[in-house]
Amino acid sequence: MVSSDIRFLRAVEMGLGAWQWGDRFVWQYGRGYSDDDIRQAFQISVAEGIRFIDTAEVYGSGSSERWAGKFLKETDQPILIATKFFPLPWRLTRNSIPAALKASLERLQLETVDLYQIHFPSPLLSVETMMEGMIECINRGWTRTVGVSNFNQSQMIRAYSTLERNSVSLASNQVHYSLLQRDVEKNGLLARCNELGSRLIAYSPLEMGLLTGKYSPKNPPPGNRGARYANLLNKIEPLLKLMNEIGQEHGGKSNAQVALNWIICKGALPIPGAKNASQALQNAGALGWKLTEEEVAKLDEASDKIVQ
Ligand SMILES: NC(=O)c1ccc[n+]([C@@H]2O[C@H](COP(=O)([O-])OP(=O)(O)OC[C@H]3O[C@@H](n4cnc5c(N)ncnc54)[C@H](OP(=O)(O)O)[C@@H]3O)[C@@H](O)[C@H]2O)c1
Repeated sequence: MVSSDIRFLRAVEMGLGAWQWGDRFVWQYGRGYSDDDIRQAFQISVAEGIRFIDTAEVYGSGSSERWAGKFLKETDQPILIATKFFPLPWRLTRNSIPAALKASLERLQLETVDLYQIHFPSPLLSVETMMEGMIECINRGWTRTVGVSNFNQSQMIRAYSTLERNSVSLASNQVHYSLLQRDVEKNGLLARCNELGSRLIAYSPLEMGLLTGKYSPKNPPPGNRGARYANLLNKIEPLLKLMNEIGQEHGGKSNAQVALNWIICKGALPIPGAKNASQALQNAGALGWKLTEEEVAKLDEASDKIVQ
């Protein structure tokens, strides 16, 4: 019988997303930020107490994991590493999961990761088959715990049940969650995670930069984010204004810090991406203080007026 202790994840308040490390397609790595910047983002985050890094085999086609491996060698702090299996269409058996993790471990220069996640559900591999592959990863000692990502409630429950039959806990479900994307509150996924004891890990918690307040209809984000968010950008001004006012009440917290603190207040674990030292430093400043219940309610109300 295998076992996996997921309690360590409950103690993690916030992590650092590593999609930015080497990704040229969405984040335009090499244009405006470089390897020095991401190294500093990592170092500052660690210096500020962040101990959880989220990467994936597909980020930068493996370069994010390679950078993570290098950075881990440069610190003496214990860092928790989460990575992900991508269900590519030719990966049709449960064995593809430990095989992919082995390749991730080589890029990470590690013998084991702390959390291995299925990046997306797949029409080609059943949830049950994927979980069998994940259990095999635990059995081989290649991951400490297992989780899923982008799973809806019924997929998550199938994952949970398959694991449970094998005495393995579902550590987490990593999903899109921000002040501008609150489906998980409204469709019950966040509540279900809490009920199951699985951590909800919130990706794109800054809505890919929008919630920092630096973008506007006249100054849209570069790359494909511009088209993706053209519509939303026209509507977010009142929310950004309220975030700013609330931030001032807490001694001048930035909009990014308010956005991340709001997620922590909701009981989820945000993993903001940072391209450089100053973004990482600012994001770490979301820790060590708390929005009041009234402020959270006001933010909810302002967000409800933008996204239903
Ligand atoms: N499981 C999944 O399917 C999935 C999907 C998406 C993301 N993720 C994970 O979640 C992590 C975070 O999500 P994300 O990267 O999509 O979006 P995010 O964290 O909401 O936004 C990150 C971007 O916002 C800007 N930014 C960050 N901090 C800032 C600050 N303090 N001030 C100003 N700008 C700042 C930077 O971009 P600019 O400077 O270019 O604006 C940065 O690249 C990823 O790194 C990845 O690990 C997982």
